[in-house]
Amino acid sequence: MRGRFISLEGPEGCGKSTQAGLLAAYLREHGLTVRMTREPGGTPTGEMIREILQHHASGEDISPEAEVLLFAASRAQHVARVIRPALERGEWVICDRFVDSSLAYQGAARGMGIETVLAANEVALGGLWPDVTLWFDLPVDVALTRVLSRGADADRFESETRAFHQKVAEGYRELAKRFPERIVRVDAGGNIDGVEKIVRTRLDPLLETL
Ligand code: TYD
Repeated sequence: MRGRFISLEGPEGCGKSTQAGLLAAYLREHGLTVRMTREPGGTPTGEMIREILQHHASGEDISPEAEVLLFAASRAQHVARVIRPALERGEWVICDRFVDSSLAYQGAARGMGIETVLAANEVALGGLWPDVTLWFDLPVDVALTRVLSRGADADRFESETRAFHQKVAEGYRELAKRFPERIVRVDAGGNIDGVEKIVRTRLDPLLETL
């Protein structure tokens, strides 16, 4: 039986990476084989593209169009070499960020438009969409405070303006309206245990399909 594909989305600081680990443990308790992965990255080629996108050693300004296509190239490799084969083997895939990150960051926040970014991703996805997308929703100020308190060097996206992050948040809201069957909102404002409980409740319908 084909596995299930779950993507985790939200702003920086929303706690989705912590929840990805907890969710994997929960699914394994149900006897499932879980494959955890992330974007950008997820394959050796994808990790190289991730370096270009995040730290950008050349100092050259990346055009918004090139940015969309670099993310899409990384995703194409990830879908073809990791995600699709794992699903075909019957594994459950948890992916920390997927196509909705491109739609929210490049489409909404960078201003390329959701339609353009969808079109750019069609080849990468080859029709493969997540079964469920957990959207960790958190007010922008709370998310930014959490990121700053981490104290690590900010990468290219984390150091964007507050207005940019506001547009990312609006982008996710719009996507949730556009894909109501797939995208499920998780209020990410609580503590780790509280958010974990919400995640479990949201996923129970998917587990019942087994
Ligand atoms: P990273 O530190 O890997 O992730 P996170 O914030 O999830 O801990 O940063 C990835 C950054 O790349 C993040 O700011 C979102 C951005 N991004 C896009 O702009 N478009 C995309 O398609 C993806 C996958 C990520």
